[in-house]
Amino acid sequence: MSEPGTGANTLTVTDNRTGRIYEIPIEDGAIRASALRQIKTGPDDFGLLSFDPAFTATASCRSAITYIDGDAGILRYRGYPIDQLAERSSFLEVCYLLMNGELPTPEQLTEFTDTIFKHTFVHENVKGFIGGFHHDAHPMGILVGTVGALSTFYPEAKKFTDPVNRRVQMARLIAKMPTLAAFAYRHSRGLPYVYPNNDLSYAGNFLSMMWQMSGRYNPDPVLERALDVLFILHADHEQNCSTNAMRAVGSSRVDPYSAAAAAIAALYGPLHGGANEQVLRMLREIGSVAEIPKYIERVKKGEFRLMGFGHRVYKNYDPRAKVVRRIAEDVFKVTGLNPLLEVAMELERIALADDYFIGKKLYPNVDFYTGIIYEAMGFPVEMFTGLFAIGRMPGWLSQWEEGLLDPEQKIARPRQIYTGAEERPYVDMPDRVHTDQDLIVAPPKPIGGD
Ligand code: CMC
Repeated sequence: MSEPGTGANTLTVTDNRTGRIYEIPIEDGAIRASALRQIKTGPDDFGLLSFDPAFTATASCRSAITYIDGDAGILRYRGYPIDQLAERSSFLEVCYLLMNGELPTPEQLTEFTDTIFKHTFVHENVKGFIGGFHHDAHPMGILVGTVGALSTFYPEAKKFTDPVNRRVQMARLIAKMPTLAAFAYRHSRGLPYVYPNNDLSYAGNFLSMMWQMSGRYNPDPVLERALDVLFILHADHEQNCSTNAMRAVGSSRVDPYSAAAAAIAALYGPLHGGANEQVLRMLREIGSVAEIPKYIERVKKGEFRLMGFGHRVYKNYDPRAKVVRRIAEDVFKVTGLNPLLEVAMELERIALADDYFIGKKLYPNVDFYTGIIYEAMGFPVEMFTGLFAIGRMPGWLSQWEEGLLDPEQKIARPRQIYTGAEERPYVDMPDRVHTDQDLIVAPPKPIGGD
C-alpha cells in the first residue's frame, strides 16, 4: 500500500466488509473498472462492479478524434479548435481530418472530394422503397430505414477488415446522406427526385437536390457556406448518445450501414439531435416575448425542459452555439430576419440571468439557434435533425473505425444489477391472481416538445 501523499499513481481501497486493502493503478486520470473485480468477499463472490447508469462517469474508450473541455467550453477536432475550422475549412476537409487525423493537402482534398462525389448517387431501387413510406413519414424514420437498407446493396461491406473496402463504405455513407435526406423531403412534397449534381459543392449539391425545379438552381453562396459550416459544427462530438450507439452496435461486427442506422435512430430522440426540431416548436408555442416569463416558470416547476438548453458535458456556453449565432447574422442578411429570433434571444437572456439555470449550469447548446437558421433557409422543421445527421456521419464513421482498430475493444456488453424476483415456481393460468394495477409502470419524466 502506498503512503498517503507520496504522489504514487494509485488508488488505495479498503474493503470494510473484509478489512482487505487493494492498490489500484490510476492511468490517464482513470481506474480500470475491471480492477474492482479483484475486490471480493469470498471465492464465490463475482467481484465488485462499478454502477454508472447513463455512463456519466465512465470512459468507454480511448479516442484521438475529438477533445471537449466542458467547463471551459472547448471543442477541438484532432486538436484544431472548432471556431478555426468553422472559419477556414470546408466540410469535406473536416471529414478528411476526422477520418485521417490530418488536414488534407490540396492533392489529397481533390482526390477525397472525387471519391465522395463518385458515390453520391443511390441505386434506383432506393426510390422504390422511399415511395413506400407515407407522405408524412418523418425524414429521420426514412433515413433510419434507407441507410440500414444500403447494407443490402453492398453486401461486401461486411468485409470491413480490408481497409480499402472499409474506406469505400465510409465514402459511400458520407456521399449518400444528402441524397437520401433530400429524397425523403421530395417524397413528402410529392416532388420528383433531383439527382446529384457533382459540379456543385457538397452543401450546394444538397441544396440543389432539395430545391431545384425544372432543371434550374444556383445555390446562394452565403447559404451554401452557412450550411457547410453547420455541417462542420455537427461533424463529431466524442462519445455522445448516437456515437456510442454507432460504436456499440459496430462492436458486434455488423456492417457500417446497419451501425449507422442505429446511430441515426439514437440521434432522432428529442434529448439528442431531435432537440433542434423541438426548439423551433417550443419557440412557436411561446410565440412572443411577452409569453417568455410564464414559460420559464413552467420549466422551473418541472412541467417540461427548455429545449436547446443544457448539456451532459458543457457546463459553459457550447462553443458551437457561439459560431451558430455568427452564422445566423450572415443568413438573415440574405433571407430576412426570422421573427422567432427575437423570442429566442430574449429567452436566452432571461434564462441566463435566472438562478435556476445558473445553479444547474444550463447554457444554450448547438441546437438552440440552428432551427431558426434552418427555418429561415426554407427547411421544414421535420428536416432539421436530418441535417444534423448529414453533418455527423463522418464523426460516426471515424469513431466506428477507431473502435474496430482498437485492440482493447470487444463487443459492448455492460453488466447489470439485477433487481427482479428471486427464483419462483411457475404459476398455472387459473391460479394467477395479480390485477392490472400491479403491472402499471410510472411514466417517464416530461421533457417538453410534442
Ligand atoms: N431545461 C430545464 N432543466 C434542465 C434542462 C433543460 N433543458 N436540462 C437539464 N435540466 C435540469 C434537470 O431537470 C436536472 O435537474 P435536477 O438536478 O433538479 O433533477 C439537472 O438540470 C441535470 O439534468 P440531467 O437531465 O441530469 O442532465 P443530463 O446531462 O442527463 O442531460 C441533456 C443533458 C442535454 C439531455 C439535458 O440538458 C436536456 O434534456 N436538454 C434539453 C434537450 C436538448 O437541448 N438536447 C440537445 C443536447 S446538445 C446536442 C445533442 O446532443 O444533440
